[in-house]
Amino acid sequence: HTADAQRTDLMTITRFVLTQQSNHPESRGDFSILLSHIVLGCKFVCSAVSKAGLAKLIGLAGETNVQGEEQKKLDVLSNDVFIKALVSSGRTCILVSEEDEEATFVEPSKRGKYCVVFDPLDGSSNIDCGVSIGTIFGIYLVEEDQEPTIEDVLQPGKHMLAAGYCMYGSSCTLVLSTGTGVNGFTLDPSLGEFILTHPDIKIPKKGKIYSVNEGNAKNWDGPTTKYVEKCKFPKDGSSPKSLRYIGSMVADVHRTLLYGGIFLYPADKKSPNGKLRVLYEVFPMSFLMEQAGGQAFTGKQRALDLVPKKLHERSPIFLGSYDDVEEIKALYASEE
Ligand code: AHG
Ligand code: MN
Ligand code: MN
Ligand code: MN
Repeated sequence: HTADAQRTDLMTITRFVLTQQSNHPESRGDFSILLSHIVLGCKFVCSAVSKAGLAKLIGLAGETNVQGEEQKKLDVLSNDVFIKALVSSGRTCILVSEEDEEATFVEPSKRGKYCVVFDPLDGSSNIDCGVSIGTIFGIYLVEEDQEPTIEDVLQPGKHMLAAGYCMYGSSCTLVLSTGTGVNGFTLDPSLGEFILTHPDIKIPKKGKIYSVNEGNAKNWDGPTTKYVEKCKFPKDGSSPKSLRYIGSMVADVHRTLLYGGIFLYPADKKSPNGKLRVLYEVFPMSFLMEQAGGQAFTGKQRALDLVPKKLHERSPIFLGSYDDVEEIKALYASEE
């Protein structure tokens, strides 16, 4: 009987969020409407990614973004789809995207109370070879009355209401937290619905995997160098950790969340603030890690306490299993 019940009791992401919203009696469904538009964007990108090679969607778009990166066709297409979906939701007032130098201020007639920061396509270097990529997003509440300004966006990550990512891999998986734990949903293409498949995700307290681009080892600082050394040549006789590095933050973080371990994008001599962007990569992933019982550290402080000064500011990041991050925090603390 239970198997039958499960099969017919479809817990879609929309229904799940509605049931969670019951904790916020004051909500008038605005968040659910916003989320449904983010979900629409993810479904579109999932479909475009799955046929990128066929639809001549691989390769460069012939432009570069504010990061100085050559934009891929899918970077631009995904960005356009998310901007349009978010504006048309009528629930946003400011949008910040990795692909746009300036923030988008929604016209007054379509304005809502949320600000969305997002990376429309994360892991672009992996598009042309078919390796997993993703979308990352974070949601802030913005005071509705006065005219929205850029200050409304430069909030610490701990003020985020919700954060999530969608991974376009062997399956299309959307992982979301609205502040009361982390849940994973898998797209059922036959229904066009994200169905709850990973309820209440908790990251293992300690893991056996470390995830970093070892190619940057020459430029790492002391504590990172010592920590990675410890992973490879443990002094306490334990077995060395495995190295897994995909090069798409969404895929590396998703594996870390489910299997445990630590993901690192440290500072290095060439880029003293590391590579990953605070608003739409570091904050959403750090929010999810904390909600799943892990933690996220910048080398100096708790990642979610960081107050960004600029839209595309970068920060070093160490996130994952609670005990693993504790170890690298101790190394940075002893360096001070
Ligand atoms: P994006 O494709 O959105 O610009 O992000 C790429 C990021 C992130 O996905 C990944 O963790 C990191 O770049 C990999 O950087 P390296 O290739 O320097 O390791
Ligand atoms: Mn990029
Ligand atoms: Mn990215
Ligand atoms: Mn990107």
